[in-house]
Amino acid sequence: MAEKNAELQVGVQNHAFDVLDGTIGPSVVDISSLYNDSGMFTYDPGFTSTASCESKITYIDGDEGTLLYRGYPIEQLANHGDFLETCYLLLYGELPTKAEKDDFVHRVTYHTMIHEQMSRFFSGFRRDAHPMAIMVGTVGALSAFYHDSTDIADPHQRMVASLRMIAKMPTIAAMAYKYHVGQPFVYPRNDLDYASNFLHMCFAVPCEEYKVNPVLARAMDRIFILHADHEQNASTSTVRLAGSSGANPFACIAAGIACLWGPAHGGANEAALTMLSEIGSVDRIPEFIERAKDKDDPFRLMGFGHRVYKNYDPRARIMQKTTHEVLGELGIKDDPLLDVAMELEKIALNDDYFVDKKLYPNIDFYSGITLRALGFPTNMFTVLFALARTVGWIAQWKEMVEDPSQRIGRPRQLYTGYEQRDYVSIDQRR
Ligand code: SDX
Repeated sequence: MAEKNAELQVGVQNHAFDVLDGTIGPSVVDISSLYNDSGMFTYDPGFTSTASCESKITYIDGDEGTLLYRGYPIEQLANHGDFLETCYLLLYGELPTKAEKDDFVHRVTYHTMIHEQMSRFFSGFRRDAHPMAIMVGTVGALSAFYHDSTDIADPHQRMVASLRMIAKMPTIAAMAYKYHVGQPFVYPRNDLDYASNFLHMCFAVPCEEYKVNPVLARAMDRIFILHADHEQNASTSTVRLAGSSGANPFACIAAGIACLWGPAHGGANEAALTMLSEIGSVDRIPEFIERAKDKDDPFRLMGFGHRVYKNYDPRARIMQKTTHEVLGELGIKDDPLLDVAMELEKIALNDDYFVDKKLYPNIDFYSGITLRALGFPTNMFTVLFALARTVGWIAQWKEMVEDPSQRIGRPRQLYTGYEQRDYVSIDQRR
């Protein structure tokens, strides 16, 4: 039970608020009555001290470098589980039994095809369209093809839409890639697991059989697990806010994809590889470290820093291990970009600027090297992030829609514009 043990003095007025405790992590001061009590708002651009919701899905401890999905450490899920099992866990809150998992995998597998007419949708894009632009447009268009799962008040339709999204994102992502490189679309195959099916849809061609490398498929699956959810990050908050208006789930996920595209967020994996390529060799690292520290230079070390992690991003550690696994399997002995990345990390982690600001590599620092080695062009990296994060967005959207206290999100502002003034006719203006 909450107790009124937070007080705020505004002028001569004293206001008391409940402090709510979570299972773990920071408690919150419930200030929802502040405006009614005091006529004032709180002010927190960037939401650095604001909890936007209550959630049971993912927990991050930025100081410890901890990431839990429904209480399970990301390391254990990445090493022992698989992506569809993680999807079930994020959606329903528990690890599935064998029967539950088999049923879930079957349902996802049999939703991987998209409406045949959608393939014509792609031909409206220029061939050189960024695959993320194709994803935003195509996922938003899903609501035009799947009317029977857009009524968010119907639990059955919510479940169908959730499954459709998880199942169809790999197909759409692979089609975006194939369209971009001018190759024919490859249909999903029900005899392949989720990650193998995705690699097959991306890299198979009609002229010969494509054998999926199981080591690479396992690495792809693990990369999906690492990207699946991450608490109330910018794109998840976008999905929640869009969903709070009652918008259909496909439109909400399209909004999340649009937000994820930004280089400060999911677009950082593409930007990090571009940066490593620009640095090019180990001897140019000091020049870029200085630029990253220069307040007058907008350059930032892409793949470094995080709003929450003030310690090593646990996902980056697993990603680095996966990078070595993939390069080893492919017989890539010395990847110059990996050399640059590892030396850059070593130098940055010993530089006072990065140490004082607690800037560590995040998930995007190594993912680009791995994805490039897997055969993806740089502009597909954020598409893969969106593919994996879809389950997190859907789980958070579902939690919000099913929350009886849920209302439309409507932040206020600190207004510093003009006070009221009268209209001036155009002949009076100077
Ligand atoms: C993701 O939120 C999530 O959970 C996101 C994500 C997820 O899974 O959903 O984890 C995925 O988005 C990871 C982050 C990917 N972005 C990048 O790698 C881009 C580079 N990083 C920065 O843009 C930045 O670190 C952010 C955006 C990630 C975090 O920004 P913050 O918390 O607003 O940090 P800040 O801008 O307030 O920086 C604090 C200080 C500043 O210096 P001062 O003004 O205090 O002097 O650190 C500096 C910044 O200039 N700084 C950097 C830096 N990141 C922060 N300086 C150089 N290089 C950097 N990368």
